[in-house]
Amino acid sequence: MKETESRPPEREQLPRHIGIIMDGNGRWAKARGLPREMGHKAGSKVVGEIIRHCKKIGISYVTIYAFSTENWKRPQKEVDALLDLLRQYLSNMEEYQKENARLRVLGEVDPLPADLRESIRRAERESAGNTAITVNIALNYGGRGEIVQGVKRLLAEGIPPEEITEETLSQRLYTAGMPDPDLIIRPSGECRLSNFLLWQSAYSELLFMDVLWPDFTPEHLNYALHQYARRDRRFGGV
Ligand code: FPP
Repeated sequence: MKETESRPPEREQLPRHIGIIMDGNGRWAKARGLPREMGHKAGSKVVGEIIRHCKKIGISYVTIYAFSTENWKRPQKEVDALLDLLRQYLSNMEEYQKENARLRVLGEVDPLPADLRESIRRAERESAGNTAITVNIALNYGGRGEIVQGVKRLLAEGIPPEEITEETLSQRLYTAGMPDPDLIIRPSGECRLSNFLLWQSAYSELLFMDVLWPDFTPEHLNYALHQYARRDRRFGGV
C-alpha cells in the first residue's frame, strides 16, 4: 500500500503535537545482513530531516521515543551504541540553534552516564529560549514510571488527596505545560504503544504504518498527517 503523499495537508488541519515511536531499525539492519547497531545509526540519520520537515510545515511539538526504560534489557553492545548515538546527537546543538528549535528530554535522567546527563543539561539550557518548535526526546522513558514519579512528587509536596486531580498530576509529568499529542505514529507494522506517553495519549489518534523507521521520509509523514486530517476527533462526545 502506498503510504506517501507529496504534500502535507493545509496548516489548520495539522496536529499541534505528534509523537513518533521510531521502530524497525533492527529489521532494517537484518534485511541488509548488518548488525542491529547499524539500523539504529541509519535511524538516527532520519531524525533531523523529519524534525526539519515538522518545523517547516508548522508543527509545534514533536516527541520521539529514543530509549525506553525497558531497552536496558538489550545486549550491552546495542545499549552502548544507542547511548553513543544520543551522545553525538545531544552534543551537536548548532543545528538546533540555527533552526530556533528547543530540545527537552523526557525521562529518568539520573541513571544515565554522567557525561550524557551533562550533555542533556547543556542542550536543554542552551536551547531553552528557542521558539520555532519543541523537540522532546524520550530517553530512559516509560509511561508507567512517569505516572509513578508524578504521584511521588505530589506526595513529597504534601498535596492533600482532595487536591489531586488530572490537572495537578499532569503538571508533575515530564510533559508539564505542553499539549497532549494529537497524533502518535508507529512505523514498522507493530500495533502497540510500548509504554509511550500512556497518560498523554488518552485521546491521541494512533497511526501504524508499514515502513521501517530508517526508510521513513517527509512524504511518509505527509501521508500520516493526511490520515490524521481525515479523522473525526470527538474526545468522548458525539
Ligand atoms: C526500535 O527499533 C528503536 C529503538 C529502540 C531506538 C530508536 C533510536 C534511534 C532511532 C537512534 C537514536 C535517536 C536519536 C535521537 C539520535 P528496534 O531495534 O526495536 O527494531 P526492530 O523491532 O526491527 O528490532
